[in-house]
Amino acid sequence: MNDFPEHFFDTQMSREKFLKLSKFIYDNYGIKMPDNKQIMLEGRLHKRLKVNNIPTLDEYCDFVFSEKGQQIELIHMIDVVTTNKTDFFREPHHFDFLKKYLDTYTPPLLKIWSAGCSSGEEPYTLSMVLQEYKQTRPQFDFSILATDLSTRILKQAITAVYSEKTVEVIPLALKQKYLLKSKDRKNPTVRINKILRQKISFQRINFMDKEYAVVGDFDVVFCRNVLIYFDKQTQESVINKLCSKLKPNGFLFLGHSESISGLNVPLKQLEPTVYQKI
Ligand SMILES: C[S@@+](CC[C@H](N)C(=O)[O-])C[C@H]1O[C@@H](n2cnc3c(N)ncnc32)[C@H](O)[C@@H]1O
Repeated sequence: MNDFPEHFFDTQMSREKFLKLSKFIYDNYGIKMPDNKQIMLEGRLHKRLKVNNIPTLDEYCDFVFSEKGQQIELIHMIDVVTTNKTDFFREPHHFDFLKKYLDTYTPPLLKIWSAGCSSGEEPYTLSMVLQEYKQTRPQFDFSILATDLSTRILKQAITAVYSEKTVEVIPLALKQKYLLKSKDRKNPTVRINKILRQKISFQRINFMDKEYAVVGDFDVVFCRNVLIYFDKQTQESVINKLCSKLKPNGFLFLGHSESISGLNVPLKQLEPTVYQKI
């Protein structure tokens, strides 16, 4: 694959290149890259050296900023720069909140946006929970839009294939109903079934876009464990743009360590990490 032996790749970046690249990442994707993230960034970019057969990170940097690099490498650089940690049924109290709300008011079509959906565990959990809810309320329906910046992670999400380990957290009854087992005994995986998959459409959206090119107003936006990567100013701007896509009285769910404290946004808090548009 590459001509250079493993030890040949220089895994350190000069200060000048780090500052240039971290500013580019911040300006274009909102992701903070302070000095203490340099080693992490170097580690993540290391794999791109091998793929591109470039021996040093400084040369890789030059490549990324070249015309060719902007065309063919940028997209892969973003894939390694983003942190995609996620889980099925992560922060489960949010799904309980949603069901309780639906008991008080059940719209004919609930529209949800999973913003920063990573590899799909969040939108598929929503699909599972809402499909269950629908069983006893045939007049109720839902649709989910799932978006992310990383094309690699979106492709993974669309495939809807997960390891046995990843789906361990899903209750057995739901696994039996909604997961299809692979026949490959050596590499046992599961796939989310069509009923859940067809409720979700996937799209690439960068939170730094001036306006979000998504269709329609949403009843609910999940934007969990994304804002932690942004500074206050970016958080405020992103939340305001998300709110512009929420219906009046619609809900915004944030991650466990995120809040709107100190931000000028049209939301009131209902519970920790659960907000309603005002
Ligand atoms: C840690 S994951 C959170 C996944 C899921 N929401 C959860 O809570 O489990 C954060 C996701 O935000 C995405 N992200 C980071 N910066 C972004 C940006 N500027 N625009 C859109 N998505 C972004 C990343 O690609 C990543 O998949």
